[in-house]
Amino acid sequence: MILPIYPYGSPVLRTETMPIEANSPELQQLLDDMVETMHGASGIGLAAPQVGRTERLFVVDLSAMAEDIQEELGEIPDWAQGPIAFINPDIVEADEDDLCDYEEGCLSIPDIRENVIRPDHIRVRFLDRSFEQQEIEASGMLARVVQHEFDHLNGVLFVDHISPLRRRLLKRRLREMAQGRVEADYLLADPKQAGQLA
Ligand code: NI
Repeated sequence: MILPIYPYGSPVLRTETMPIEANSPELQQLLDDMVETMHGASGIGLAAPQVGRTERLFVVDLSAMAEDIQEELGEIPDWAQGPIAFINPDIVEADEDDLCDYEEGCLSIPDIRENVIRPDHIRVRFLDRSFEQQEIEASGMLARVVQHEFDHLNGVLFVDHISPLRRRLLKRRLREMAQGRVEADYLLADPKQAGQLA
């Protein structure tokens, strides 16, 4: 089932998430719904708060970029072959000496893309859909998406990372968005129902 995506200004996007204690049919259903919602919106990542939930999880699917990834790495790794769930993720290492710049967007902030500087290499530990512990080294696009989605679990959005100048330039757009003046070609939650952050 496609879930409505909560836009910028929705309090749930600023709420801390809670670790998931156990696997359950409800959790599997939520993961299915989040993957369907992400695909329906042509996204490559989606975090639980974006669909109004407070579970500590996100989904990523980089298979649409498999060709580019193959060019970069010489093969298509498992993580680029379809959707993956990151349950109770933890970034256990981030190489702060090797930063890179990339223009990010977010399904909760339609039509805005901004450069964000982040570490290019991280190590992330998480539970997969079967509740098996995994630890992967991520670089390039995977490192980028994982860090962006991980931020969502701590109430952080990519626009929090941009330069003060860029933030000033975007201030009005973001304020309008928080007031409900937002459109996308996928289903958005009614910001009035989602509540406002003033
Ligand atoms: Ni996002």
